[in-house]
Amino acid sequence: MLSILLLLLIISLVVIAMMSIYSFYIGAPILFSPKKATMKSLQICQAKPNEKFYDLGAGTGRTMLIAYKKFGLNTYGFELSPALAFMAKYNLWINGVKNSTIYLKNFYNANLSDADIIFCFLTPKAMLRLKNKFEKELKTGTRIISYAFNIPDWTPEKIIINSYPGKIYYYLKK
Ligand SMILES: C[S@@+](CC[C@H](N)C(=O)[O-])C[C@H]1O[C@@H](n2cnc3c(N)ncnc32)[C@H](O)[C@@H]1O
Repeated sequence: MLSILLLLLIISLVVIAMMSIYSFYIGAPILFSPKKATMKSLQICQAKPNEKFYDLGAGTGRTMLIAYKKFGLNTYGFELSPALAFMAKYNLWINGVKNSTIYLKNFYNANLSDADIIFCFLTPKAMLRLKNKFEKELKTGTRIISYAFNIPDWTPEKIIINSYPGKIYYYLKK
């Protein structure tokens, strides 16, 4: 019995490790955007209560926490790493965040068509791939914030420079 439990534990750990490596490979490493940059991003967007906020690669849910607590947004996060998705769920629950959902899911396969605001802190490669998805899928007027990396060939409405380690790129879907 003990050996079966140990085997299950090892298999779970291997699966978690492989999904974390996979998310790093196809999307972005596990880093966190500065809280001040998230605040600034949502101010630039003029985020209003009950709008739909999507974090592509939610990490531990910290941007969702700010989006809910400071701006009253309904928050949705996609995260490929099971360990981080679990931490995000716990983080949001322990902080009393309502109207939030964490999907253990690849954001490339998510339907983003009803998003009001999208937040990304990813990589140049991921932004290139998302560009096509955004062009096909997003409704006109969706606000997109990309921390640190631009969307290739799109013209930002604003770039906030110098205030944070990374630039903040603000886009409007036309
Ligand atoms: C740089 S972190 C950003 C975390 C958080 N959004 C923040 O700003 O603090 C990027 C996150 O995206 C996740 N990720 C990468 N590719 C993904 C994909 N295709 N689908 C879902 N999550 C992904 C990674 O596991 C990681 O947690």
